[in-house]
Amino acid sequence: MKRFIAFILLLTPLFGFGGEDERIEAMLSKMSFDDKIGQLNQVDGRGDIGQLEAEIRAGRLGSVMNIVDPKLLDRLQRIAVEESPAGIPLLFARDVVHGFKTVLPIPLGQAASFDEELVERAARNTAVEATECGIRWAFAPMMDIARDPRWGRIAEGFGEDPFLAGRLAAAVVRGYQGDSLSDPKSMAACAKHFVGYGAAEGGRDYNTTYIPERLLRDIYFPPFRMAVEAGCASVMSSFNDNDGLPATGNRWLLTDVLRGEWGFDGVVVSDWGSVAGLVPHGAAADNREAAKRCITAGTDMDMSSRSYLRHLRSLVENGEVPMEVVDEAVRRILRLKMRLGLFEHPYARQVTTSDLYSEKILDDACALAREATVLLKNDGVLPLSNVRRILVTGPMADAPYDQLGTWTLDGDKTRTLTPIRALREIAGKEIEILYEPALAYGRDQSTARFGRLRSLARKADVVLAFVGEEQIMSGEAHSLADLNLQGAQREMLELLAGCGRPLVTVFMAGRPLTIERETEISDAVLYAWHPGTMGGRAIAQIILGEASPSGKLPVTFPRCVGQIPMYYNHKHTSHRADGSEGNLDDIPREAVQSVMGHTSSYLDVPPTPLFPFGFGLSYTTFTLSELQLSDTTVPANGVLKVRVTVENRGKREGTEVVQLYVGRKSASVTRPIKELKGFRRVTLSPSESRIIEFELPIDELAFCGADRRTAVEPGSYVLTIGTDSRDGLKEHFSVK
Ligand code: GLC
Repeated sequence: MKRFIAFILLLTPLFGFGGEDERIEAMLSKMSFDDKIGQLNQVDGRGDIGQLEAEIRAGRLGSVMNIVDPKLLDRLQRIAVEESPAGIPLLFARDVVHGFKTVLPIPLGQAASFDEELVERAARNTAVEATECGIRWAFAPMMDIARDPRWGRIAEGFGEDPFLAGRLAAAVVRGYQGDSLSDPKSMAACAKHFVGYGAAEGGRDYNTTYIPERLLRDIYFPPFRMAVEAGCASVMSSFNDNDGLPATGNRWLLTDVLRGEWGFDGVVVSDWGSVAGLVPHGAAADNREAAKRCITAGTDMDMSSRSYLRHLRSLVENGEVPMEVVDEAVRRILRLKMRLGLFEHPYARQVTTSDLYSEKILDDACALAREATVLLKNDGVLPLSNVRRILVTGPMADAPYDQLGTWTLDGDKTRTLTPIRALREIAGKEIEILYEPALAYGRDQSTARFGRLRSLARKADVVLAFVGEEQIMSGEAHSLADLNLQGAQREMLELLAGCGRPLVTVFMAGRPLTIERETEISDAVLYAWHPGTMGGRAIAQIILGEASPSGKLPVTFPRCVGQIPMYYNHKHTSHRADGSEGNLDDIPREAVQSVMGHTSSYLDVPPTPLFPFGFGLSYTTFTLSELQLSDTTVPANGVLKVRVTVENRGKREGTEVVQLYVGRKSASVTRPIKELKGFRRVTLSPSESRIIEFELPIDELAFCGADRRTAVEPGSYVLTIGTDSRDGLKEHFSVK
């Protein structure tokens, strides 16, 4: 049988029997029912190897996860190709989320770079490393919009904005998939988790979401649509039930929208066990019903729950699931394998010279870590100059494992360049570097070394404190209700601030933390996220002035958990706060009811964030001027051209991220006060100025109106060009 299928496969292109579809039909027609069901089944390869081989030999598996040893992978593949009934190659998959061996900054950090080109280049490097180990399907990019930093998986996505998230997700898709999926150095990307997973109530992972259709279409869908438009080969359904429907069994989502509206022709894979997950959700009475709902909804491959393996035969034989539904799912999987070239080249690509940790890959990772780093405060202490002795301290100063961040299954902590190592490497000869971690890890409560810390701080010219989160504190199933620094970290910073020396605080974390007090007592603050393998060198280069910081926040930083959810593209409301509110001391005793006004604010905390979306400082200062629009009235199918002049007014070269926002005062439905519709990194020498041009297709201003149609509505708009989401130069235009 298998030889027949292989023969068919060879024949069709040779004799020009049409393309992909004809080859797929020829294969499908020769597959048994069991062969077909086997293709819809994906398992974890880390179990009993004997059982795994037996299941492959019986043709019960279409894909295996988590095998990263090319020799073992080839051994399993040979069984599939030469011994299974249909001889169809396996697709080997892995969570390759931000780097593979060379770990990149977490995606939330990558988003702070606002650099599509570098994100794409780094993703391509990741594909080269992962395919060297035989992986041809990566469960990434993750592009869940996250407005709640309590949610641990905010680390894995590109933040709160649909435009930024979509552009960077598309960049990762291009990087992973290259110019052709059949390139042995390419791997299929997977847009996940479709959809709305980041809106989990309470920020608790896997929790219920309620996102109405209009918000889905305006905020949560766009990054996925942009990834599909970039050619993303697969989509993963999400765990959450939205408005009562678990995504994995939601036909409107996976078939009507994804395939019907967007024309997606790739594979939908469930999340881990999320087919069977309909039962605990209470959306299916038993596993059999769950299998029926999910295959019918459009989930092609069942990750790890074996529900399809168990129940599809009886569901089809009883006429509850049409054979055509199974066939269509099989076609999509065969098509993906064909596009990857697996039928011609099923085995791990041959490697003469390894690319793992190559100089280029490490340099790109360092560049991305630099661009991911956000300067939040600087009274002038940075970049360091004229210092003879520095004290390096804090639990993240030498934390090779934690620095890598979540989802780094293949990262090697021995390769991590930590800040203390990098500072010694770069400046150890010119500067005396004192080192006292004081705390062993983020949760460390011990103050036993604080006495020594105090005495060392008093000897130093400057103190560099590296604080933040252990790796395990973010990522899947790792939500937090309290976002303050853990352990005795704040106490440590208070001690250091009392030593009368300039204090530079560097945060490494998987999410925004509530750091108002720490920021207040520090002279400079850098936010490096979990910056990956090369993070220490990137931070050291910035601190020492070899590079300028250019990162911008891809997510809002709340002052306290009580403000969450807080995001920049919020609605106007009818009682807008003016920002002056939120100080309990302003409230008189026995105040009458309306003494504090009627605004959407708190009595005890300002209504503004600690740091807004798009914010980030530089070592120089930029000004924007001469904003010009090509037209003041534009047709709905037109393009608005925008020009602005950016000038570097400082004494150092620097990079600014110029941001273009659009908002409208009124429409058929309430709209966000503004939305990001363009961004551009521009590097300028001192006193240099440059004209930056944007092209804004008006159809990108479409939104889901009162009639539930997504369309451009005529009306007047305000266009703002700024260096963060707070404000900037404004011009008005209308759409006819
Ligand atoms: C996990 C995650 C998903 C990942 C998958 C395979 O539960 O939700 O992002 O790709 O299972 O590891």
